[in-house]
Amino acid sequence: MRGVILAGGTGSRLRPITSVTNKHLLPVGRYPMIYFPLHAMIEAGIEDILVVTGPEHMGHIVNLLGSGRQWDVQFTYRVQDSAGGIAQALGLARDFARDDRVLVILGDNVFDQPLDGFVRSFEAQGEGARILLHKVPDPTRYGVPELRGDRIVGIEEKPRMPKSDYCVTGIYAYNPDVFSVINTLEPSGRGEIEITDVNNHYVRQGDLAYDVLAGTWTDAGTFESLMVANAFAQNFRLGRFEPSEVEAL
Ligand code: G1P
Repeated sequence: MRGVILAGGTGSRLRPITSVTNKHLLPVGRYPMIYFPLHAMIEAGIEDILVVTGPEHMGHIVNLLGSGRQWDVQFTYRVQDSAGGIAQALGLARDFARDDRVLVILGDNVFDQPLDGFVRSFEAQGEGARILLHKVPDPTRYGVPELRGDRIVGIEEKPRMPKSDYCVTGIYAYNPDVFSVINTLEPSGRGEIEITDVNNHYVRQGDLAYDVLAGTWTDAGTFESLMVANAFAQNFRLGRFEPSEVEAL
């Protein structure tokens, strides 16, 4: 399985601080934001990781992450020329993924639970896709699933009347057929190719499974959520991403 971290977008909700650097490099607790999804991905055993980001601050991302050698993984980078949506950014991973399955995580998702179980369940599942849900107090800000028994029967993006108390987190696992699904999609009202449309395609096929992510989860794309992320992550230690004593001096 290969990994894809999506770290594009303009960071418009965090201007002016995102005028000079990429949103995913802003501090959360003791680390740059992108370390959280990356750490979870590496801990789940994924060694080949594509990072997709916009052209403006790609250099900063590469400066921080480098080749991956320091963490025994290998990074590949791709530029998303303009912010055309999460699914469009994922489409850039087609050549990288080849015929492998992909674990996809949005670069602004900050959480404290391992993903091994989710990855193992997806590997056992065979067809389709699998997503992680999390219970939230304010589902209107997210993609929201409608659940019937243990099935998802539909997902609505930022609904005014949410059909459950869960959000779709930015943690997704797909079979390689996801790239042909993305090719069939048209931009939404906000001009983006939506990951929710990708997931609804799998719902219609009866092929979208889910797990619920326990622990704490937040995205960090607004000032309010960035502060929430900072508060909960302030005492986190991300094992292998801790600076060595020499670097810390
Ligand atoms: C995106 C997705 C949404 C998902 C959220 C999770 O929202 O479109 O379905 O719930 O990420 O972080 P955005 O951050 O683009 O508003």
